[in-house]
Formats: sequence, C-alpha cells, structure tokens
Amino acid sequence: MSDVAPAVVLDGVRKTYQLGGQPVHALRDVSLRLPRGSYTAVMGPSGSGKSTLMNLVGCLDTPTDGRVVVDGTEVGGLSEEARTEIRGSKIGFVFQTFNLMPRLTAAENVALPMLFQGVPGRQRDQRAADLLDRVGLGDRTDHQPNELSGGQRQRVAVARALANDPALLLADEPTGNLDSETGRAIMELFADLHEAGNTVLVVTHERHIAEHADRIVHLLDGGVEREERIAEPRRPTAAGGQSAGGSGGSSERSVGSGGGDGS
Ligand SMILES: Nc1ncnc2c1ncn2[C@@H]1O[C@H](COP(=O)(O)OP(=O)(O)OP(=O)(O)O)[C@@H](O)[C@H]1O
Ligand SMILES: [Mg+2]
Repeated sequence: MSDVAPAVVLDGVRKTYQLGGQPVHALRDVSLRLPRGSYTAVMGPSGSGKSTLMNLVGCLDTPTDGRVVVDGTEVGGLSEEARTEIRGSKIGFVFQTFNLMPRLTAAENVALPMLFQGVPGRQRDQRAADLLDRVGLGDRTDHQPNELSGGQRQRVAVARALANDPALLLADEPTGNLDSETGRAIMELFADLHEAGNTVLVVTHERHIAEHADRIVHLLDGGVEREERIAEPRRPTAAGGQSAGGSGGSSERSVGSGGGDGS
C-alpha cells in the first residue's frame, strides 16, 4: 500500500432520490478507489448511476449512506460552502448538460473558474483563449452559449473544466456530440493533464474513448458490475491515425476489494 492518500475513495455509497414519494435507488453500495494520478473510465447503460456518481465525487451532492472522500476529506460532513471551495480549487467538471453561464461569452465562461481562484485578468484571458484554441473554438471566443452549436458548447465546457489545471478532472460524456477529430483533440488535453500527474474520471458510452483510461468501471443498476484493467491504454494520436496502443489487452478483475492497488 502506498501511504499517499488516494484522490477519491467511495466506501459503501448509496444514493437514493425521492421522487413523488417513491425512492429511486440511483447508487447501491458502490465502493471504489481512484489512486492519485489514475485515469478511470465509467461505462454503463442509461440510468445506471454514472452522473449520480460524478455528482458525488464532484462534491455537488452528498451520499444517502456511505462515505465519499475526496483528497483526504470526507465530503458528507462538509457545509455547502466547504464543498464549493473544494470544487473550485481542486476539481474540473465537464457536465453532461454543459451548464454554461448563458449571459457570458465562451471566453468569459472559461475564465470564470480562474477568476474565482484569483488569477489575474490578463493571464485569465490568455489561458481562456489558448484553451478555446485547443478545442477548436479560437474563432468563437465572443459567442454566447445560445450562439453556439451543442458540440461547440460541449467544447467550451471542456475548456472551462481544464482552466485551473485541476488535480481531479471529472468529465461526463465529454465527447458525446463531437466528430472524431475534435474528440481526439479533447482526449489529448485529458492525456496532458493526466501525464502531469492529475487524476481523471471520464464517463463515456464509447469503448474507444474508455480505452484511454487504465481501468474501466462498468456500472449496472446502480452498482459496480465489474472493473476491467486496460493493459495498454490508448494514446490520442495525430489526425485520423489509429491509436498506437490499439485495443490492447484488457483483463477482467473481480470486484468488491475496493480496488486499492496502491499505485
Ligand atoms: N434528481 C433526481 N431525482 C430522482 N431520480 C433521479 C434524479 N437524478 C437521477 N435520478 C434517477 O437515478 C438513476 C440514475 O441516474 P443517472 O443520471 O445517474 O444515470 P446515468 O447513468 O448518468 O444515465 P445517462 O447515461 O442517461 O446519463 C435514474 O434512474 C434516474 O432516473
Ligand atoms: Mg448521465
């Protein structure tokens, strides 16, 4: 075991929503560990609990039961303000529904998390422009979200999530609406962040996107169905090329151990 605390630990996590007096069991007894610097993909059918899991790890919500520990801090016991502080300083979140600020331009949306962290104006503007350029939106920086296509909004959301070089990147279907070339550019940004030692968690329904991770967690009906190791994760490659790592060997692994490999 490493003595470095994992980036994220979920321990016996349940999340039950109440809907019209009826309980909806979105997560039932999920235990999961994300070592620092790991790259994990989450797959599973619609309704299996993927976004619920992301919201808990992203400190947007608290579990009904069990523990969610982010960077050594148990999230359940924190005030809303304390959770907001963790999010702002440590987490980048690409929401499935983007959640951009409608009255701000693309550049202002990307700059906002930096503003909250006290980054000086000129540096914010430069970084926002650079990130938008890297997601292929260098010519859309002054557009508001309603002046952008769905895929373009998604790319703004990705750029915003990366603004502060987050220690923990959470991305819920970040390439769902994108052509393969733009998807590749985004996976490259994620790879850069990962290679710098940060922790990445990506929800996707696309197998080839999931294979960029070193592990795929398969959710089913609110539980972890199985975990799969990717022996040779894909690396984003230059335009159109096949990934070097190929669909390299993956190995099934039984679950229930909480997954601590101490790497
Ligand atoms: N706020 C809520 N109130 C009540 N039920 C909810 C709420 N949010 C999610 N659920 C329910 O919890 C379950 C898990 O939802 P979740 O959004 O986590 O699924 P998902 O795996 O992200 O699906 P998708 O692939 O469609 O995005 C679903 O049955 C959903 O209807
Ligand atoms: Mg979802």
